[in-house]
Amino acid sequence: MAINAPASRPANPRFSSGPCAKIPTFELSKLSDAALGRSHRAAIGKEKLLAAIEETRDLLGIPADYKIGIVPASDTGAVEMAMWSMLGARKATMVAWESFGAGWVTDVVKQLKIDAEVKEAGYGEIVDFTTLDFDTDVVFTWNGTTSGVRLPNGDAIPSDRAGLTICDATSAAFAQDLPWEKLDVTTFSWQKVMGGEAAHGMLILSPRAVERLESYTPAWPLPKIFRLTKGGKLIDGIFRGETINTPSMLAVEDYLVALDWARSTGGLSGLMARADANAKVIWDFCDSHDWIANLAVDPATRSNTSVCVKFTDDRINDGAAFAKAVAKRLEKEGVALDVGAYRDAPAGLRIWCGATVETSDLEALMPWIDWAFETEIAAQG
Ligand SMILES: Cc1ncc(COP(=O)(O)O)c(C=O)c1O
Repeated sequence: MAINAPASRPANPRFSSGPCAKIPTFELSKLSDAALGRSHRAAIGKEKLLAAIEETRDLLGIPADYKIGIVPASDTGAVEMAMWSMLGARKATMVAWESFGAGWVTDVVKQLKIDAEVKEAGYGEIVDFTTLDFDTDVVFTWNGTTSGVRLPNGDAIPSDRAGLTICDATSAAFAQDLPWEKLDVTTFSWQKVMGGEAAHGMLILSPRAVERLESYTPAWPLPKIFRLTKGGKLIDGIFRGETINTPSMLAVEDYLVALDWARSTGGLSGLMARADANAKVIWDFCDSHDWIANLAVDPATRSNTSVCVKFTDDRINDGAAFAKAVAKRLEKEGVALDVGAYRDAPAGLRIWCGATVETSDLEALMPWIDWAFETEIAAQG
């Protein structure tokens, strides 16, 4: 029996978890001010890079004594740079509850071969931060993009810790409150909540992180694109927009345009409110349908950006094939692009709810999920 398709569709079907939807007002013509064909070291280039740094500080409320750098290789570049430059001075604790966190664990344990305690939780769960030793260096991901599980707050991180906290906040920054005084290294990429481009990473350092960089030299060699110090001193220029190597000025312009939109949308609280309202549409849908549930077990840890859901109906024969078929059907209808669960995550859907997504598009998507689910159930025979 054919199931009637909903009458209306999302105006924008882009629900990818990265690169994420561009800002709602995006047009290529908005980038016409980009300093193209100019040196990034010319006054105009440096001005734009510095503006990207200082506007980030302003919007996210980053303390004045924290350093903010634009570094190569997106969020991965920023995390790797921090781990390779700072870890090894003391014992490390590697914390992971999904795929990206697990990737950082592998790097530290297998590549850097650092003495580390590994604390892991399965998809949907989270590691209990009250059990961690913050006199070690603790590396963790604030929002697990592939499980949709986030740290609700930084309360368990002591202010008087001896170790550093290194936080991959790429799918949290601009959508969730980050307690800067608890974070020594924070990283993110423009391509997530801001809907920017992925070329560059943001590396945010507390004074204690700078102190580590200036007092500790790792035993291993560092490639040029990871080097943050020279002669035992921080290369300060990196944190004024004098990037280590050549950035894309088109990507920088795009980020500046997104920051401008963010300010006009109510700044950080406006962005967080948008993500909250977006995620609530899916949470409410899960609450009102008994065949779908949030992957996050504890409601306090539910992500408001990368919302991950699983199908729980007993009638489903093959969970992985079923979820894939639903995602494919939504994509074929042009109502939701890139919403299949991450390749290593449990079967289901992952729907991005960051600030650049319109709540009305999520509202329009929910009946389509209902439709795709019922259609696939019927198709199983
Ligand atoms: C938590 C987390 N860390 C790191 C990455 C990698 O980011 P990038 O590809 O921008 O380096 C992602 C991408 O989705 C992520 O979600």
